[in-house]
Amino acid sequence: MNQNQPKIKIISSGKYTPEMVISNEDLEKLVDTSNEWIVSRTGILRRRKAVNENTSDMAYQAAMHAINRVHYDKSKIDLIIMATITGDQMTPSTANFVQAKLGLDHEVMSFDINAACTGFVYGLEIASALLQTNRFRAALVIGGEILTKIVDYTDRNTCVLFGDGAGAMIIEPSDDQNDTAYFFNAAKGDMNDSLTVKKFIEMDGKKVYQFAVSAMEQAIHKILNESQLTIDDIDMVIPHQANERIIQSVAKSTGIPISKFMMNLSEYGNTSAASIPLTISEYYDQNETKGKKILLVGFGGGFTWGSAILKL
Ligand code: ACO
Repeated sequence: MNQNQPKIKIISSGKYTPEMVISNEDLEKLVDTSNEWIVSRTGILRRRKAVNENTSDMAYQAAMHAINRVHYDKSKIDLIIMATITGDQMTPSTANFVQAKLGLDHEVMSFDINAACTGFVYGLEIASALLQTNRFRAALVIGGEILTKIVDYTDRNTCVLFGDGAGAMIIEPSDDQNDTAYFFNAAKGDMNDSLTVKKFIEMDGKKVYQFAVSAMEQAIHKILNESQLTIDDIDMVIPHQANERIIQSVAKSTGIPISKFMMNLSEYGNTSAASIPLTISEYYDQNETKGKKILLVGFGGGFTWGSAILKL
């Protein structure tokens, strides 16, 4: 076992999704598709669309949900990491906008990262490592996207898949060995043409699908191995919410019961970096989470992929 894995206290989790809903029936009016095709190939029923709000607005709302859930003293937050591929603008970073919206005018280090749909798992690993320096009291890690602004609504191959949302988590450093968190993150730049965003999202769906299944399977085995835990020690697997069939294939190939995979993609579609934290927040909404162990696993453009095991 690697003794250098960080120790972190998970304080809270929050989410925000915009009000406007785009149903499969709405998409039938835009492109040559059908509710039946979308449901059977992806499991998605509807997704949300941000109107008159920016990524930082949604990220702020998700952060406030996490803060209010536990009545957290937000002045303790001195590190903000925002995972997004759809930030408000090139600079300032979306994390800086969130800092301002939260009214955190003390010394805060805040910045954005881009690891596509794996961005939140990357962000958590970076935050956890920085917290070990004891320079920071608390980190706010957010994944937030307005993917509907980079979706081509004339391309049926992609426009049915994506939606908007944000999720956030607050973490603090810990000295307790029981709070050890485990991370694995990786990238494969030589497959970068399979999923790209220049103006709009373009992808080779089949290639992405095949990569996703094998990468998630590997990332699950890797993190269980690293932590010397078995799947029986894990209360819930929280995967990136891209496609129900991808998750079913991973369940089959790893032998993990599908009931152990939390899914909400039918409601939100694929929200990229937001999908894992948004799902974690819903896990908090539905369960007594204290002491529970969750396994996060994601993949995304780049290609990137990663996993983590956290004790809540
Ligand atoms: N409605 C109707 N027909 C469609 C649609 C649609 N929305 N989209 C594609 N089709 C058609 C295709 O044109 C094709 O027609 P053809 O046989 O006449 O050429 C047919 O359906 C079958 O297409 P396939 O690509 O074989 O369909 P598949 O079963 O592979 O499902 C899908 C496509 C859903 C895109 C799947 O490949 C997939 O989920 N891939 C992974 C995508 C993904 O997760 N991307 C994001 C990951 S990273 C990130 O989150 C940014």
